[in-house]
Amino acid sequence: MSLILEGFMGCGKSAVGRRLAARLGIPFIDTDNEIEKRQGCSIAEIFEESGEEAFRQMETSMLYGLLLSGGGCVISLGGGTPVRDANRGIIRDLGKVIYLKAPCEVLASRLERGVEKRPMLKGHDLKARIEELLLAREDKYLSLADQVIEIKGEDSVDHICDRICGNTGSLV
Ligand code: S3P
Repeated sequence: MSLILEGFMGCGKSAVGRRLAARLGIPFIDTDNEIEKRQGCSIAEIFEESGEEAFRQMETSMLYGLLLSGGGCVISLGGGTPVRDANRGIIRDLGKVIYLKAPCEVLASRLERGVEKRPMLKGHDLKARIEELLLAREDKYLSLADQVIEIKGEDSVDHICDRICGNTGSLV
C-alpha cells in the first residue's frame, strides 16, 4: 500500500510528497518526473510533439507499472491523472489517497510563474481556466479521497505533513 497525493496543479503535491516520504523513510515517486525521465523530454514537449492524449496514455501506463511494482511509496500524481475513469480504478488499488484541496486564488498566485511549463494552462486566462478545470475535476478528486487536506496560502510543507500524519509523525 502506498500513499497517493492528488490535487490541482500548484497545490503542493510534489513538495509535500517529497517531505512526507523523507519523514516516513520510504521512496518518493513523482509521476510527472518519472514520465519526463522515461521520455527524455519535458511534459510541455510531450504535449507539443505528441498531444495530450498521448500524455494521458503515458500516465495510465505509469499507474499500471506502479501497481505491479508493489507499494510502500509516497506517490504524487499529475493534476489531471484522476480524470480518466481507468486511472481512478488503479489509483484506488494503489493505496490511501490524500487530496490537497486549495482554493482558486491560492492556485492562481502560485501558478502565475509556472504557466509555460503547464500546457493545460498556457494560452488561457489563468483564473478562468483554473475555475473551469477545478469545476470539472473536483468531483473526481473527492470521489477518490480518503483524506481531504484544505490548503491555505500560508501553510508550510511541514504543517501540511503534520496534518496528514495527524501530528503523530506516523500514518495510521
Ligand atoms: C496536468 C498537471 C501537471 C502535468 C501536466 C497536466 C493537468 O502536473 O501532469 O501538465 O492536467 O492538471 P502537476 O499537477 O504536477 O503540475
